[in-house]
Amino acid sequence: MAATPISVSSHCCSSSSPYPNLSSIWSRQNPNYFIFPATSPKPKSASLQFNSNAFPTVVSMQDGSLAATVAGLQNEAPLKKLKDGLTSVTPPKENTQISNFVVNDGKSTTSITVVGASGDLAKKKIFPALFALYYEDCLPEHFTIFGYARSKMTDAELRNMVSKTLTCRIDKRENCDEKMEQFLQRCFYHSGQYDSQENFAELDKILKEHEAGRISNRLFYLSIPPNIFVDAVKCASLSASASAGWTRVIVEKPFGRDSESSAALTKSLKQYLNEDQIFRIDHYLGKELVENLSVLRFSNLIFEPLWSRQYIRNVQLIFSEDFGTEGRGGYFDHYGIMRDIMQNHLLQILALFAMETPVSLDAEDIRNEKVKVLRSMRPIRVDDVIIGQYKSHTKGGDSYPGYTDDKTVLKDSLTPTFAAAALFIDNARWDGVPFLMKAGKALHDKRAEIRVQFRHVPGNLYNRNFGTDLDLATNELVIRVQPDEAIYLKINNKVPGLGMRLDRSNLNLLYKARYSKEIPDAYERLLLDAVEGERRLFIRSDELDAAWALFTPVLKDLEEKKKIPEYYPYGSRGPVGAHYLAARYNVKWGDLGVDE
Ligand code: BG6
Repeated sequence: MAATPISVSSHCCSSSSPYPNLSSIWSRQNPNYFIFPATSPKPKSASLQFNSNAFPTVVSMQDGSLAATVAGLQNEAPLKKLKDGLTSVTPPKENTQISNFVVNDGKSTTSITVVGASGDLAKKKIFPALFALYYEDCLPEHFTIFGYARSKMTDAELRNMVSKTLTCRIDKRENCDEKMEQFLQRCFYHSGQYDSQENFAELDKILKEHEAGRISNRLFYLSIPPNIFVDAVKCASLSASASAGWTRVIVEKPFGRDSESSAALTKSLKQYLNEDQIFRIDHYLGKELVENLSVLRFSNLIFEPLWSRQYIRNVQLIFSEDFGTEGRGGYFDHYGIMRDIMQNHLLQILALFAMETPVSLDAEDIRNEKVKVLRSMRPIRVDDVIIGQYKSHTKGGDSYPGYTDDKTVLKDSLTPTFAAAALFIDNARWDGVPFLMKAGKALHDKRAEIRVQFRHVPGNLYNRNFGTDLDLATNELVIRVQPDEAIYLKINNKVPGLGMRLDRSNLNLLYKARYSKEIPDAYERLLLDAVEGERRLFIRSDELDAAWALFTPVLKDLEEKKKIPEYYPYGSRGPVGAHYLAARYNVKWGDLGVDE
């Protein structure tokens, strides 16, 4: 049966629908497509509304009804649904009444533009992640990668630059050189200002040439300083949005410095983009062990029942780096460790750790639960925060610089490079359980981990075997995010032999011993999700607001009072104040314990 043509106007906000009762035939299961029932008089033409992210497909169903999808091409579900009852799909080429679309072979193409392509993040993380995705065949069949930045560069120069930094996990793999060459052939460069609509319009023109008439989806990765986010978004959105497929923008933190500036940024971005188009990245959410948190909790009977104040004494979220701000002092000095690591990476982990069971694994369900946790948190007291800053140190003839030796940092800077804080969630599950966070640069080791210390065993028959410090005998679950990803549970065990001596042993899941496959970089997962439209691992604006609402008052307080940080030597275990803070809540930092 031939499909009755439907004319689809691509201009937004058309209100001249000849189908007056459109809402009654709007598919409730999937608001992305319309069904014109067979029983109703067939429209000679219908004017459908859709925005620039949508592309229409017109089909006739077995029952004679007509359906038109107006979903972005990434959304296969409605098409699949339609195909079940399909007698014919009107190929775009035959549908002469579809105007403003360049018809093509029905396949879409994805253009990924890295804005700020010559920066460090782009070189070290984004291009290597894109290459790894390409190597693993995870990118769409048709795709192009564009670098966009102010510096003048040819395509060949960009390729040369990118090839030098493709030192990702893939480079030891089979056929890597060949694949790399193919990948580089898909990389191009356009130079332009970040606030020039004209330059973005030029980019649009070149993108179109590469897209060759296919339906184009466009992803912009903003790897640029925050003060030019909005300009770049404005220009990308107004001059280089996809005209038929979807347009998405990935933004990297910092998302403001406090509640006000973050809200102002969100407001400005939303002048040009819908919330759905904004992908706020927190790369810790892309880390394997952070993703695994929900699996661990919700698919193992033994953990979830213990996951509450009843059995958990405290939770520790620890981040440490064994190097200073080297080269990033300019950025860092404006933010400090609490904004750089705690308000986002550690808090996101905390929310995933502590949330209630979501209704489903859908992005919105998970993010709803995370927001609930964040909103249940008690305001952080300034007394529950200690801050530190590293100072220079000489060890074994080598000398290490202090934070303020960095030329891009003010000599009298009080910016913390270390912080520890006690946080509480005032809800039924977590009432009274301290969540201790600790984050620092230039410490003695590099690690990120979650430590869960369980309560003492009531009436433990073996108490006398543990000596006076019962804390040493409690179970501890450690989720080591990096390095050497692992999950281990500290248990008490009898040392084999005739006597009754107990020791602490680990039930140990060390990833590299268990899994031979390398672990993808967080950026790979996140870029793939952005291409696929999966929002689970990106931060929604209300999550961001809740995170800032928690940290802004205490940050302001510390800054207004010009609190002097406690100085600690480069490469040490950090300020002693962190121990006093933990001790106030009867906690000992697990990472500094005897068996670590
Ligand atoms: C970034 C911070 O978000 O995360 C940096 O701005 C920090 O200061 C980095 O070094 C740590 O990331 P990773 O993945 O190396 O642990």
